[in-house]
Amino acid sequence: MSVMNLIMCLFLCTLSVCCFASSHRSILREVSDNDRSGIDRDYAVELNATNFDAVLKDTPATFAIVEFFAHWCPACRNYKYEKVARLFNGPDAVHPGIILLTRVDCAEKINTKLCDKFSVGHYPMLFWGAPPKFVGGSWEPKQKNSDIEVIDNARTADQMLTWINKQTSS
Ligand SMILES: *[C@@H]1O[C@H](CO)[C@@H](O)[C@H](O)[C@H]1NC(C)=O
Repeated sequence: MSVMNLIMCLFLCTLSVCCFASSHRSILREVSDNDRSGIDRDYAVELNATNFDAVLKDTPATFAIVEFFAHWCPACRNYKYEKVARLFNGPDAVHPGIILLTRVDCAEKINTKLCDKFSVGHYPMLFWGAPPKFVGGSWEPKQKNSDIEVIDNARTADQMLTWINKQTSS
């Protein structure tokens, strides 16, 4: 930062518009401080038919979990997946960049076709796969050797973690 910029910044700071390079980081810190109070904050990425392909195509993550749910059925998704999402996504992730946790609200009209393509028959329905396999993808119950797998028996955050551990260690 040049002396001129520094002086300019000090001036702006007195107007409470700080422009130091660290200001960006302090915003991040504020966000994560808020997170600690709002402990159930959800870092799963909400996708819809418009951005589904683009997000899954662009993510650097090795694996993706897509949860199809319906917002009118809170009981159908009361499995505390937020805990899992927090491990892999978001600013305080312990294992960042490995798994992208996403979800799609099938009760939104825009997502009807997308949910049909994945044969969503109950909520929540969870899928596992390499992100590119979801792009333009589909799934059928009778399909063999699919690159996308249904995650069965993931009714709690712990069960989901067990499942993830099995997948990532094999
Ligand atoms: C789809 O998701 C994007 C990104 O979150 C959002 O900007 C857009 O409004 C959504 N579209 C609909 C129809 O909900």
